[in-house]
Amino acid sequence: MGAAALMVALAVLALASGGAASLQYGFYKGKCNSSDVEAVVQSIVKARFAREAPIVAYLLRMQFHECVINGCDGGLLIDGPGTEKTAPPNLSVKGYDVIAAIKAELERRCPGVVSCSDIQILAARDAIALAGGPTYSVRTGRRDGRRSRASDANLPGIDFTAAQAVAYYGKLGLSAFDTVLLLGAHTVGVTHCSVIKSRLYSYGGKTGATDPKLDPYYAFVYKTWVCPNTPSSDGNVVFLDDQWSALRVDNNYYKNIQRRRGVLPVDQNLYNDGSTRWIVDLLANDAGLFRSVFPQALVKLSEVNVLTGTQGEIRKVCNKFN
Ligand code: HEM
Repeated sequence: MGAAALMVALAVLALASGGAASLQYGFYKGKCNSSDVEAVVQSIVKARFAREAPIVAYLLRMQFHECVINGCDGGLLIDGPGTEKTAPPNLSVKGYDVIAAIKAELERRCPGVVSCSDIQILAARDAIALAGGPTYSVRTGRRDGRRSRASDANLPGIDFTAAQAVAYYGKLGLSAFDTVLLLGAHTVGVTHCSVIKSRLYSYGGKTGATDPKLDPYYAFVYKTWVCPNTPSSDGNVVFLDDQWSALRVDNNYYKNIQRRRGVLPVDQNLYNDGSTRWIVDLLANDAGLFRSVFPQALVKLSEVNVLTGTQGEIRKVCNKFN
């Protein structure tokens, strides 16, 4: 490449990274009359968490489903036929009402200032701290997008190998380490028997076969009590982490996968695959390390393809474009 071409390439690169660079700590300081935007978000999340602690799982999962589909642009929040929200993997995403409540309060205090996409990221951050997880700062200044299409919702499969998961997040600029950290979000929340029945009753397409990579005691418990082999158990809840830890953001998830107790195949694959096992071991053996690095992966996820400056819009309500 000639010197001129190199200069142009560098200038284009600088422009391309300009979007993310203009996110700022405390972007809303002094912009919402006398209100402290982050404090308003936090107080609403806190009140909701006190009534409904699982919102930590809803908001954490929402951040993931939001940010991997065309970036963190509030696209998941839009109602209507054919929007991101209607894509099959998004049908079980919850927590939209918390975002709407925060937005309504902020619109009352300062209309047209705070984006829905920032609310999503701030609310998830606050819920994580309330659930015993780490506290961390996030940059704000995201704008809401004008696109929301179910056909864009390319979410990872539950039976992804570790390599597939790493490649998926790699496309978003995240590392293998980040991938293992992000899956650690399964330290909270639940899935349903319908999602894991093939692991229990027809592994590898063989009727009656159970995944040998699942701890036999856990397989027994699931088959006997949690997910008996009848259609009526499809909606039963399965905790992604141990039940006692299912509302706590901690590193117990990694200890479970060391013991072959990962609920989704992709969880277990992080340990079974030698390329990511060392990361699981590191995080399982050091609760403090998980606390200090989990936020880094969440922050990276929260800055994927964001709109800033004059891009997009600040919605009046989160479930409709202006
Ligand atoms: C390969 C990647 C991933 C796959 C295949 C995956 C898949 C799933 C599935 C199937 C469920 C259960 C849904 C249901 O039964 O209703 C779930 C729940 C959940 N996921 Fe993931 N996930 C992945 C990565 C992530 C990431 C990166 C995060 C967040 C940073 C996350 C956060 C959650 C949370 C918190 C829940 C519990 C939701 C609740 O209790 O309502 N997941 N995930």
